[in-house]
Amino acid sequence: MPDSGHIPVLPIDVAETLRPSTGNVIVDCTAGRGGHAAQLARIAKSEATVILFDLDKENLNYATTRVEETGATVHAFHASFVTAASSVTALGLQADCVLADLGFASNQMDEMGRGLSFKGGGPLDMRLNTDSGMRAQDILETHSEEELANLIYELGEEPYSRRIARKIVLEREKEPILDTARLAQIVRSAYGARARTSRMHPATRTFMALRIAVNNELEALDHLLQDVELGCRTANDGGWLKQGARVTVISFHSLEDRRVKHAFVGLEKNGLGTRITRKPICASDEEIARNPRSRPAKLRALHLLQED
Ligand SMILES: C[S@@+](CC[C@H](N)C(=O)[O-])C[C@H]1O[C@@H](n2cnc3c(N)ncnc32)[C@H](O)[C@@H]1O
Repeated sequence: MPDSGHIPVLPIDVAETLRPSTGNVIVDCTAGRGGHAAQLARIAKSEATVILFDLDKENLNYATTRVEETGATVHAFHASFVTAASSVTALGLQADCVLADLGFASNQMDEMGRGLSFKGGGPLDMRLNTDSGMRAQDILETHSEEELANLIYELGEEPYSRRIARKIVLEREKEPILDTARLAQIVRSAYGARARTSRMHPATRTFMALRIAVNNELEALDHLLQDVELGCRTANDGGWLKQGARVTVISFHSLEDRRVKHAFVGLEKNGLGTRITRKPICASDEEIARNPRSRPAKLRALHLLQED
């Protein structure tokens, strides 16, 4: 198997929390390079139906081929997972297993032309769907100093957001900020001497905030979690989730994990499901050594109640 450019995180825990069985309908909201989806499809055998979503056309195509090779029936949507519930219903199906492995894949981070990384130069784009939407560069050009400070603080949890926003506005007046290396340098200079003692690269949080804003990541997650609630309530009436379905979400930062935790706790309190994970599952030291990207991953899973 050639290197797909992305190592799936927590693969054993994904399989154990979703427990696919033969012929299941599996929804992968974030197909990526298809590692998880192909693994789940193999467990559910060639009778499985796998429904894939990705904003990134190239990743979706790659994942589709990989899952088709397992013999499963594949439906692929080049779309945000906010359309998952309606697409599954439009196919006349109900899902047994739903996975969302949030954020971006390693191959996307490594492609400098996307501007997701501050290591090396690249245009300030950051869109996962390069066909539409605002680029990071557009946000840096159009937002006021206060809007930039709020965005970097709220989505990046960056304590020096005001200082960084001020520096961005000063610099863009001299010359438009068009590439990642320049933005990283601007953030570093806003940090001043603190850059030397900072544990992570000073630009880490600012880049994360811009990526989250560009791709409407929190709005999409909130939408999906609302659809999971709707699926729990309508499982008996042909909704998009089957009775007894399992939903697993892997998040990579606290803004996402807080939302998932809150949603799953609420569903359990309302008697709509039980949490398979009381505490989030994290990668072992061995997995982190093999795949450093798994370090921040937090997996939470929910089991919909099944009527007797
Ligand atoms: C962490 S990767 C998934 C990796 C995948 N589990 C695997 O094994 O290869 C996340 C993927 O989700 C996609 N993505 C992010 N937000 C999305 C959204 N709202 N809707 C659909 N796809 C999204 C990204 O383009 C990326 O390909």
